[in-house]
Amino acid sequence: MKPIKVGLLGLGTVGTGVVRIIEGHQEDLQRQIGSPIEVAQILVQNKSKSRDVAVDSDKLTESPWDIINNPEIDVIVEVMGGVEETKEYLLSALNQGKHIVTANKDLMAIHGPEILLKAAENGCDVFYEASVAGGIPIIRALVEGFSSDRITKIMGIVNGTTNYILSKMSQEGAAYAEVLKEAQDLGYAEADPTSDVEGLDAARKMTILSTLGFHANVSLGDVNAKGISEVSKEDILYGKKLGYEVKLLGIAENHDGHIAVSVQPTMVKNSHPLSSVNGVFNAVYIYGEAVGETMFYGPGAGGLPTATSIVADLVAVVRNLKLGVNGRTALAPYKEKKLKTDEQ
Ligand code: NAP
Ligand code: HSE
Repeated sequence: MKPIKVGLLGLGTVGTGVVRIIEGHQEDLQRQIGSPIEVAQILVQNKSKSRDVAVDSDKLTESPWDIINNPEIDVIVEVMGGVEETKEYLLSALNQGKHIVTANKDLMAIHGPEILLKAAENGCDVFYEASVAGGIPIIRALVEGFSSDRITKIMGIVNGTTNYILSKMSQEGAAYAEVLKEAQDLGYAEADPTSDVEGLDAARKMTILSTLGFHANVSLGDVNAKGISEVSKEDILYGKKLGYEVKLLGIAENHDGHIAVSVQPTMVKNSHPLSSVNGVFNAVYIYGEAVGETMFYGPGAGGLPTATSIVADLVAVVRNLKLGVNGRTALAPYKEKKLKTDEQ
């Protein structure tokens, strides 16, 4: 059986999780998709760095082009981060007919439309489930699970690092800087954690969710975002005394086509389920006209939970390959994209 060859861009927290799941679940995956999955090449910054997972050193490269230009690679899994250069790599890979799985919300929140259009032009899949809420399959829930409904509101905790910090400050009286360092050591925080604590990471995720949920081109600049860097231990303890927990909430509402998206620290009454979402966990409420209120809960960051979403996307790509429908089931709401797909 010919293996599906994966080019992995990045072998950090998430990339290591991807290798572990592909290796550890190989038989189950093969049973589902009928082919072995092989991580054929891996991009890193520094080949001589020690790694948390055993990989054949011959597979490591420091040049993305070794992977992108490798005709044997079927799918690129992008878990290196970055925006402009990474976009060029992915556009080039799409032009060569390679499918993409990415966890990169920075990229998808800004260049998602361009990347998805390029994918459609080339009959390629681009899946990005891991870009929002780590191990919670929230994008598929929105796009597939609620395709029959009209989504009116999306609200929740979509950043694991800040929730970890706020929970520890509330439950243990921990100091902000100390718990931020812990979240970094655990691999939850972004390379530049400013984007976590200033609300930008959550804003990127809310851009993706509201774009998908409301079938609208919401851009990052439309999101009014404030983070937690000015939330003091006193704010948290005072809130607690009054029966509230401070949570960083993303809220996106669609009132008859008028869309408002924001991210801000919010006092959540302790009778509300979001008040007891702690640590790295995320929780997202989706409200639909017909379905009413739904809630999704799970680990929002971390190597293995995030890799679960990535490998599930990989399975979706391979299933599409077997059916010959790549590029037709992309998780893209854009009208331009739909018309293109309809014409094909
Ligand atoms: P990370 O631990 O910093 O790993 C990044 C990896 O990419 C490293 O292996 C690094 O190589 C490699 N890399 C980075 N820039 C490179 C370049 N210019 N050329 C070659 N290799 C490069 O990051 P991560 O936490 O795994 O996150 C990766 C992506 O997933 C980001 O887009 C992030 O936003 C997203 N994400 C992360 C999580 C999470 O929980 N961490 C959850 C969801 C989504 P070296 O190892 O040699 O340094
Ligand atoms: N830094 C992000 C977070 C990673 O803490 O939520 C998951 O997207």
